[in-house]
Amino acid sequence: MSLLDVLQEKLSGKNVKIVLPEGEDERVLTAATQLQATDYVTPVLLGNKANVEALATEKGLDLSNLEIIDPETSELKAELVEAFVERRKGKATQEQAEQMLKDVNYFGTMLVYTGKAEGLVSGAAHSTGDTVRPALQIIKTKPGVSKTSGIFFMIKDDQQYIFGDCAINPTLEAQDLAEIAIESAKSAQSFGMSPRVAMLSFSTKGSAKSDDVEKVSNAVSLAQEKIKADNLEDIVVDGEFQFDAAIVPEVAAKKAPGAQIQGDANVFVFPSLEAGNIGYKIAQRLGGFDAVGPVLQGLNSPVNDLSRGCSTEDVYNLSIITAAQTLQ
Ligand SMILES: CC(C)(COP(=O)(O)OP(=O)(O)OC[C@H]1O[C@@H](n2cnc3c(N)ncnc32)[C@H](O)[C@@H]1OP(=O)(O)O)[C@@H](O)C(=O)NCCC(=O)NCCS
Repeated sequence: MSLLDVLQEKLSGKNVKIVLPEGEDERVLTAATQLQATDYVTPVLLGNKANVEALATEKGLDLSNLEIIDPETSELKAELVEAFVERRKGKATQEQAEQMLKDVNYFGTMLVYTGKAEGLVSGAAHSTGDTVRPALQIIKTKPGVSKTSGIFFMIKDDQQYIFGDCAINPTLEAQDLAEIAIESAKSAQSFGMSPRVAMLSFSTKGSAKSDDVEKVSNAVSLAQEKIKADNLEDIVVDGEFQFDAAIVPEVAAKKAPGAQIQGDANVFVFPSLEAGNIGYKIAQRLGGFDAVGPVLQGLNSPVNDLSRGCSTEDVYNLSIITAAQTLQ
């Protein structure tokens, strides 16, 4: 069964409420009507009702039973503005809050924060920054997590891997890399995988020396300490590894004999956002893997970012993944 089949089975009958702020985008509107027809996700669409209805008529889409909220005219506006001012404690005035909640991503994120919906999927028509910033400011990270990060599920036939952080943090210290390793492992578990996390570098077990190598090696120690302290025995983290030593048993036997991971890693933590973002795109474009994500981890409620080049299917699939995250 594919990842999505497994998730859809888990979500059967759950009707998880997911906000889709870009209701006036054809791909989002089409995906919303498809989701509405399932019992996995109940979409809440944001947008100007007249515009959404005109688009639906043009495309022959059935809007019956679909919840559409217009942030401009919604009776929820005053309540959300007040909750936003309270949440941002001195960082936004009433006037600034009113202005900011005209933005569909802020409005949608406040629906999640106030419990009127359980998750949000946006980014078909917004940059990553504009999509995730409201979540970082309002929903914030879970206790014990200092930074949210973005993973991709890399899927081809029966192969499934996780790559992170490929989406969020331009600069990462050893402590951050260790946290991403543990959070990525937990994400892997919640999607049915047994995590074997390789911390990637251009060095394998001290074969090269540099500050960057030392950072990854320190991150491995920190992650292993955390595994011991929190009794997370089901998680294996090791490194630092070059990619071949992490994925090819014969190379691991030569370069990393005695390592806990012997070419059988299934979660890969990249040393920087540059490496992660480039790495997943190479696997996707040259390796023929489907890249599903980025799936943000570590937030109090799930918010996920679409690529602006996304298809209707991408919107549908990421909504299913987001709904599945609420079950964790
Ligand atoms: C994520 C991102 C938008 C945050 O940028 P920003 O808004 O300028 O960040 P700021 O430092 O101003 O922080 C804004 C808020 O988010 C929080 N924040 C920033 N990064 C965070 C993170 N990784 N995890 C949790 N919170 C974070 C800050 O603490 C701050 O909260 P506060 O306002 O309550 O104090 C930025 O790091 C970014 O653009 N990253 C790269 C995204 C990208 O282009 N990826 C590649 C394509 S997928």
